[in-house]
Amino acid sequence: MQYRALGSSGIQASVVGLGTWAIGGWMWGGTDEPAAIRAIQAALDDGINLVDTAPAYGFGLSEQLVGKAIRGRRDRVVLATKCGLVWHVQQGDHYFNSDEKAPNQSATQYRVYKCLRPETIRYEIEQSLKRLGVDCIDLYQTHWQESTTPIADTMATLQDLKRQGKIRAIGASNASVEQLDAYRRAGTLDVDQEKYSMLDRAHEADLLPACVRHRLAFLAYSPLASGLLTGRIGPDRIFNAGDLRRGNPRFSRDNLERVSRLLQAFQPIADAHHVSLGQLVIAWTVAQPGCTHALVGARDPAQAHENARAGDIRLEASELATMRQAIDAQGTGIV
Ligand SMILES: NC(=O)c1ccc[n+]([C@@H]2O[C@H](COP(=O)([O-])OP(=O)(O)OC[C@H]3O[C@@H](n4cnc5c(N)ncnc54)[C@H](OP(=O)(O)O)[C@@H]3O)[C@@H](O)[C@H]2O)c1
Repeated sequence: MQYRALGSSGIQASVVGLGTWAIGGWMWGGTDEPAAIRAIQAALDDGINLVDTAPAYGFGLSEQLVGKAIRGRRDRVVLATKCGLVWHVQQGDHYFNSDEKAPNQSATQYRVYKCLRPETIRYEIEQSLKRLGVDCIDLYQTHWQESTTPIADTMATLQDLKRQGKIRAIGASNASVEQLDAYRRAGTLDVDQEKYSMLDRAHEADLLPACVRHRLAFLAYSPLASGLLTGRIGPDRIFNAGDLRRGNPRFSRDNLERVSRLLQAFQPIADAHHVSLGQLVIAWTVAQPGCTHALVGARDPAQAHENARAGDIRLEASELATMRQAIDAQGTGIV
């Protein structure tokens, strides 16, 4: 496993991190809790130390499962969670309503707001510390940005939490370059977490170069495009109710065929390294300029084990160039 710095925090985190959104079940058609706990532990046994979660992933469930899994292993974990999606108050920007399975405008169980006010952050961190069973979070990230709170006020609160020893590093997610600049003006920002994969490359034009310029770690989320880029999802796969992939054009028969053609072009490189296509895709992701870490979701120990091993692969410049050419040539028709 390779390890890289989280900005200037002094924290070294595995280039392959474990993402635990799916483990919370919400928007992923449910979860198998024992398998989820074993997946987290398998990841740690294979050299992954970066574990990313959020209160919103299963409305606390993902954090609780992470907490159970890391009990007795806390010293091996760079624990990352988030604040800024709240359902205990109706403040900030209304984002969506949800039932326990997935967003649903007519649901009344959860009214989710994007809110980064000092008082909600101070409430949220205590909830997260309790669910995770720890007294300090290594990386605390603002999950979504909102319009009602000046970033300077949010950052002042985060800096104060750092002074109190409740967090060690600060990150922002789903932010613009201008918003990152506002965070940096107000304190020490170490991480930007954004959607990035070979099918989602918009941030190559803006956020990735900004992270290089300002020495921020860039944590790529959904690097397998929700599992699509493993090449293992066939047209007959049935997704459970509430799974974000059900009825999603990305997972239509036509798109699966296009993705399969793209992945076939990578097969000789995967064979040369004796790795799976999914492992190759993860290795490609963390070899891109500015992309320091990939947060990869895993539902069970086999997936966690396979994904962790991608952190050992080192691709040659010529292999990266061949892959980029294939993405540029064939990737255009892919949704
Ligand atoms: N900041 C944000 O707003 C934000 C947003 C999204 C994600 N994230 C973070 O990024 C993490 C990763 O993103 P993601 O979970 O959306 O997507 P992802 O990592 O692209 O895909 C994860 C899914 O792919 C499948 N998969 C993973 N490894 C596999 C393997 N070896 N073989 C076969 N299938 C495999 C699993 O689903 P199945 O087994 O069900 O097919 C798994 O749940 C999240 O968990 C979260 O921590 C953050």
